[in-house]
Amino acid sequence: MSQNPDAIAPHGGQLVNRIATPEQRAEFLSKADFLPRVQLDDRTVSDVEMIAIGAFSPLTGFMNQEDCDRTVTEMRLANGLVWSIPITLSVSEEVASPLQEGGLIRLDNSRGEFIGVLQLTQKYHYDKSREAIKVYRTDDAKHPGVQVLYSQGNVHLAGDIWLLQREPHPQFPTYQIDPAASRELFRENGWKTIVGFQTRNPIHRAHEYIQKCALETVDALFLHPLVGVTKDDDIAADVRMRCYEILLEHYYPHDRVVLAINPAAMRYAGPREAIFHALVRKNYGCTHFIVGRDHAGVGDYYGTYDAQYIFDEFEPTELGIVPMKFEHAFYCTRTKQMATSKTSPSKPEERIHLSGTKVREMLRRGELPPPEFSRPEVAAELARAMQIQIPA
Ligand code: ADX
Repeated sequence: MSQNPDAIAPHGGQLVNRIATPEQRAEFLSKADFLPRVQLDDRTVSDVEMIAIGAFSPLTGFMNQEDCDRTVTEMRLANGLVWSIPITLSVSEEVASPLQEGGLIRLDNSRGEFIGVLQLTQKYHYDKSREAIKVYRTDDAKHPGVQVLYSQGNVHLAGDIWLLQREPHPQFPTYQIDPAASRELFRENGWKTIVGFQTRNPIHRAHEYIQKCALETVDALFLHPLVGVTKDDDIAADVRMRCYEILLEHYYPHDRVVLAINPAAMRYAGPREAIFHALVRKNYGCTHFIVGRDHAGVGDYYGTYDAQYIFDEFEPTELGIVPMKFEHAFYCTRTKQMATSKTSPSKPEERIHLSGTKVREMLRRGELPPPEFSRPEVAAELARAMQIQIPA
């Protein structure tokens, strides 16, 4: 694949590829029955995939103690590169104890299928409450990210990985665009500036507004909904993707908007995750990244703009992707359009505030979101998916 000299560099300079070659695959398969096995949960399987396709460049495997510690305490890898979320493989003491450092480990998915290999270089213990406070800014076990952290094993396994078998993502075959492919696509189209958009919610009009405001100033929009593990009450990924398809068909230009899936799991780490989301989109070739209100937040754990302030803790050159920050967008009944407090003279009572959480609550009560919330075609799709009767 040709390299685009104008393209934004991946984080750390090189796009990682840890997908086993046919020869490596054959060799690993021949050893399959003799290697010690570790079974991964769905979150860790998606981390293996993200590492292998280069979306987590420069990571080539699961973090060792030095990288993990410095990520937790300073938001940097041991070599100083910015990195805000630990990418680790956790197992129980019982699983860890027979494993030999220096050996190969067979990685299975939750269905017991052989999906990858770990070259185990280190086993180490870690401090869960320190990680909770530093990464999630809370040690409240009700926080969904902290809950996962507290429930995982006490030992981390570190080392490079190889991916043998991809998660198929059969519901979204045409949207499975890996970083090497998105970079190539951007190059073919001659786009120099591409803004990435992360979401875990069905698209609503505030999303559309900030995406289109951003698109007014760059060449292309990379819509990159997360389809990995989310918390149980989030809307299912296939429903969210259908909403995107419907919206793109009716309301977006087709020559400068790309829809692709982000196979990662959601952490709900707010500010820290905003940095992480931006670096991942840099690896996909984006030059800009949208950060709106309470990005990757949950409940009341983070301030509305904390995920924007955190970008000021780094030099722009060390991030290598430009955050595009948006205020809380709402529907303004005075000017009859989407707006923010930067662009609307309205009083608070003239503002209809929208959020994914509100849409979910309305749907659960059996109500359709109004047109100020969602485009009617999207509301109809959500109603269909949630089996709500559409009023005549
Ligand atoms: S998440 O991935 O950040 O958790 P969500 O779908 O809620 O998911 O938001 C996607 C992006 O849109 C984030 O950058 C978020 O800050 C932004 N966003 C969501 N709602 C609004 C809003 N009403 N005004 C401004 N930005 C918003």
